Formats: sequence, C-alpha cells, structure tokens
Amino acid sequence: MTLVVSGASPCDFVLRGAGELVTMAPGSVPGAEGELGVLRDAALVAREGRIVWVGRESDLTSVAVAADAVEVDAGGACVTPGFVDPHTHAVFAGSRAAEFEARLAGTTYSEILASGGGINSTVRATRAASLEELEVLTARRLDTFLLHGTTTLEVKSGYGLTTQDELKMLRAARVEHPTRRAYTHLGAHFVPPEYEGRPDEYINMVCAEMLPAAEGLAEFVDVFCDQGAFGVDQSRRVLQAGEALGMRAKLHADEIALSGGSDLAAELGCISADHLVHIGPAQIRALRDAAVVAVMLPGTSFSLGAKYAPARDLLAAGATVALATDFNPGTCYCENMQMAIALACQGMKLTPSQALRAATMGAAAALGRADQVGSLEAGKWCDLLILDGEGHHELGYHFGVNIVREVMVGSRRVVSGGRRVAVSGGHLHDARAAVS
Ligand code: NIG
Ligand code: FE
Repeated sequence: MTLVVSGASPCDFVLRGAGELVTMAPGSVPGAEGELGVLRDAALVAREGRIVWVGRESDLTSVAVAADAVEVDAGGACVTPGFVDPHTHAVFAGSRAAEFEARLAGTTYSEILASGGGINSTVRATRAASLEELEVLTARRLDTFLLHGTTTLEVKSGYGLTTQDELKMLRAARVEHPTRRAYTHLGAHFVPPEYEGRPDEYINMVCAEMLPAAEGLAEFVDVFCDQGAFGVDQSRRVLQAGEALGMRAKLHADEIALSGGSDLAAELGCISADHLVHIGPAQIRALRDAAVVAVMLPGTSFSLGAKYAPARDLLAAGATVALATDFNPGTCYCENMQMAIALACQGMKLTPSQALRAATMGAAAALGRADQVGSLEAGKWCDLLILDGEGHHELGYHFGVNIVREVMVGSRRVVSGGRRVAVSGGHLHDARAAVS
C-alpha cells in the first residue's frame, strides 16, 4: 500500500506501536475488526494535524513521511479517538458543595431549585465574577477535561441570565486552550429572580434581545424544558428564535419528568435531545424517526441518585446515542468521560463498546462534527489518546482512576505521562514543540 499525497507537503506525524488502534470506523481500513473497527499492531500518519493514513504498522514503510516528522511510539498500548463531550456547563463561578450535602440528607434537586438555591446560587456567583475570573476557572477545568481524554467539548452559557452576563460566559468559554469547543446559548436555563412570576416576559427578552446579541458567539441554542423550568411552548419560541439566527437547536428534555421535551425536539428536528430520563417507547420512536441524537448523561443520574435514561432501548430502536458528562456545579461535578463510560455500562447496561462509540462518534454527531472528530480515519483531526492498558475494554472496567496517558490534539502532544505538557505562552504552534 503506498500513500499518494499529491501536491502536498510530506506527512509530519507518525504514531506506531499501537497494540490496538480503535478506528471507530469499521470497514474503513482493511483488517479493522468488529463493531469498533479495531486494528492490531497499527500505525497512523498525519499531516498538518489531520490524519492521512491508518493501517498495519507492517505497511508503514510504503508511506512517504518527512525525515523530521514527529514520531510517537505507543509501546503496544491501546489508541482511541479523543473523547467528545457534547454537553457541559463548564463556565461558572462558585460552589454547590453544601447543596450536595443537603441532597444526600434528603432534600430534592427540585426543592432546592424552587427555594432559590441550585441554578440561582450559581447565577449569583457567575454574575459577580469578571470575564477574567471566569476565564481562569474555565481554563483550569478544560485542563481537567483534557487530562481525562476529552479533546472536543460543548460549552453552554446559562448561569448569567442577563444579556451581558450570558455574553460574558460565551466569551470565557473561548479562553485559549488546546481543546476544541462548540458553544451553546442556554439563556433559557431558568427564570432569573428579577423575572420571578413573569416567565413569558423573560422568554420574550431572550428571543428579542439575548439571542440576537449572541449571534456569532453561539453555534447552538438550548433550553431547560422540564417541570419546574420552561414549558414546551416557551421552549419552542426560544429554539425557533435561535434557529432564525442560524443556531442549531438542542434541548434539555424530560430529565425531571416526562414533560413534552422529547416530542418538541422531534417536532423541530433538533440536533440533539439531552437527558431523556423519563421517556417511553413513543418518544424513543419519535427521536429516532426525526434523527435527533439522544444524549445520555449517566453522571447526572448517579449524582442525583436518580433513574438512568433508557439508552439500551434507544439503541435497540436504531436511534443515535451519544454520551456526555453534563459537567456542572449542581447535578454532575465531573469532567471525566471515562467515568461517564463506566456509569453508562453499570447504570444503563451499555456494553463498553457501545459506551465508547457513544463517547466518540455518537457525541460528534450530537455536535454536527461527525466529519471532523470521533474516529481515527483519513481526513479527520488527529485527536487521539494512548491508554494505560492494552485494550479498549479497560474503559468502564478500570474505573475511578485516569487511564489516559497521552493525548494528541491536531497531532500535538498536549498530555504526556498523564500530565499536561507545558507549552510556552500557552500556545501550541508546532507538534515538535510539544514533544520531549
Ligand atoms: O443539565 N438540568 C438543567 N441544567 C443542568 C443543571 C444545572 C445546575 O443545576 O446548575 C443539568 O443537569
Ligand atoms: Fe445540562
């Protein structure tokens, strides 16, 4: 097999020694086995951050590689695509540790929300924080995501709840960092105190003022559509207002109660519907038929001591299933997709392979990036993980610790030996600069 790269510069990155390379693209490469397309004794070649070749290491000799290309030896370990986390609330200030204790003592999430705590307490702290303070907090969290293998993540606003504070959050979400990010406007997360008792007026303001002000800063629009939050008609108005501005619609749906969110997501053809804890067969069919990606958030069920969403039923029906952390200060304070995989296996009874697919390809689909990330295939970004272990079956099984040793984003090594690679000025200009 010879790699023909017409008119292009030579390949500048070579990974060899992958005992197991999970392409996540069965059929894409000769020899790739099983539902995840696993190649044994594999290698991968990239140019300018994009994969150009994946195959058996024994075929590597025929690939034209620059003499000074960066070489990485996986040493027989397992290589997977970087995780994609399609649902996070990574920008916020303050802590809700006290609330966690109250929940453990029996107070419910809904009771805390209704009594002015919960989201409102994070809103108070986030409004009081400066852009710079939020950037520092966010960058620190993005490091934690990256250390645990997340190379692409979605970040929502939703703790500002004024036009300016939502913009501040969306700007903080863009803090300089190697992770790839997608930005979502969640101005309709909750009715802020100054609009108490006037939710429709708040929704009017979100549609007329907040969303237009965020044009260009948010690719997606989202609403917390649920009992105790916003209703179906209010949610529809916000999503349609966002869509009119070119944002694609997502929805927090049926987390607390079956309340019409999934049906709305199917009606509008949202790119994803997230949570889905209380859905039944009718909603499952509707989501599948409308090709809405079902985003599962098992960390939230775990943290709330609540029921898990019917991920297996969604898969059995033929829906596209994604996995995410829902990282937020209230219901899931966890940046770790490995933990989400473990919980999807135990709580939702997904197989480790199903969970890994949902954490990569499924998650990429939930962000409209299935052509960019989520698998190791020619043409996609060279975002990959080297695990501490020989096989991908370690994921879910070896839990509560970090088994990601090395992380590459666009061929650049950003985590090495389980630690963030320090790069001068916080930038990664060149793959070589990041490799010791
Ligand atoms: O996805 N459900 C609504 N929003 C978040 C929780 C936000 C919070 O409690 O701060 C969620 O679980
Ligand atoms: Fe959420």
